[in-house]
Amino acid sequence: MRKLLVTGGAGFIGSNFVRFALAENSPVVNLDALTYAGSLENLADLPNANQHTFVHGDICNRELIEDLLEKHEIDTLVHFAAESHVDRSILGPEQFIRTNVHGTFTLLEAWKQAWIRAGKPDHWRFHHVSTDEVFGSLGPDDPPFSETTRYAPNSPYAASKAASDHLVRAYGATYGLPYTISNCSNNYGPYQFPEKLIPLVILNALEGRELPIYGDGQQIRDWLYVEDHCQAIWTILQRGAPGETYIIGGANQPSNLLVVQTLCDLLDELAPDSQFAPHAQLIRYVTDRPGHDRRYAMDITRIRQDLGWQPRETLTTGLLKTVRWFLDHQTWVESIRRQQDYQSWRARNYDQRTSASVEGG
Ligand code: NAD
Ligand code: DAU
Repeated sequence: MRKLLVTGGAGFIGSNFVRFALAENSPVVNLDALTYAGSLENLADLPNANQHTFVHGDICNRELIEDLLEKHEIDTLVHFAAESHVDRSILGPEQFIRTNVHGTFTLLEAWKQAWIRAGKPDHWRFHHVSTDEVFGSLGPDDPPFSETTRYAPNSPYAASKAASDHLVRAYGATYGLPYTISNCSNNYGPYQFPEKLIPLVILNALEGRELPIYGDGQQIRDWLYVEDHCQAIWTILQRGAPGETYIIGGANQPSNLLVVQTLCDLLDELAPDSQFAPHAQLIRYVTDRPGHDRRYAMDITRIRQDLGWQPRETLTTGLLKTVRWFLDHQTWVESIRRQQDYQSWRARNYDQRTSASVEGG
């Protein structure tokens, strides 16, 4: 049984992973700074809650990390904590460098010290949760991202995650730390903060607000239901090879416009009393994101062949579950709607975007 320290476990993927690990009977120490993206409400109704220890703190606080590693005899660190939104990184990159680069560096230093003190055990793991965005953008005929794709990040967020990946790899090569890295595509599902496309569209549609499509809406993402991501990380912790990187993805590549139209259709069906149906009437093309990556696609051959993981949900089943979850969790939704940061972010990111007309759109 691994003794887990999870960073960022009050955020979207982290809280889903904490729930997953507890359901597997694993004790979890959960370190989170509770930024705008983290919330204790994401940790309500945990299974085996007596096995969960929440610590409110910052990954840049080295003394705190050292204390936690020692006190809880941690042997496995799963590192989610990050600033994670591309648009925020464009408007304010500094926090991304602090958390994603300096925070990861601080964790690695504390981890290295604890690992050496414990006699360099082989079974210890530093698992770094990263993103496909470090690889940049694919052209229409390029092969999908794989573990050997060259790094070419295009946003400050992606660059900060690339830097953190390189630091983890360097600590493995230089000091011998047993690490694994996963680079995953776009996640969606329960507890996702509604600054990201899918929950934003669901919440806006139910309020009769515009559904903003950046540029022509023909950008392509590879969507993965969050529980599939948690299962993939769990599999890597059980069977992944130290020093290895794994690509994780959902094996689908719809355009953004198709995702939004599908969500509108689902809402028409599942919220038949909505006064804003048909919800697709709310779609608006707006000014594009600067440096917007055009296409992502994932080659999951390694994790499928070596570790036997593949996604369980299709985009159709995953989106259905997601829309149902948001409709069924109105208390959670209302608590986000009341959040000051959520309201000010909407004004900051969207008020300056003008409506754009798109040929053929
Ligand atoms: P999120 O923004 O929902 O959550 C981030 C969490 O980290 C929050 O709970 C926040 O409070 C916490 N945090 C931020 N700064 C911190 C600090 N200095 N110290 C401690 N905690 C801090 O993010 P997410 O979407 O759940 O993503 C989690 C991780 O997965 C990130 O590393 C991200 O790069 C990666 N990732 C995300 C996706 C995706 O589609 N969301 C896909 C691939 C990889
Ligand atoms: O690919 C993995 C990445 O996926 C993660 O590393 C990031 O943490 C996560 O935020 C996500 O990044 P994206 O930028 O792809 O996600 P987002 O939901 O912000 O946007 C998805 C697509 O939708 C993207 O092409 C931009 C577009 N979009 C987004 C918003 C918020 C819109 O058209 N309108 C919007 O209002």
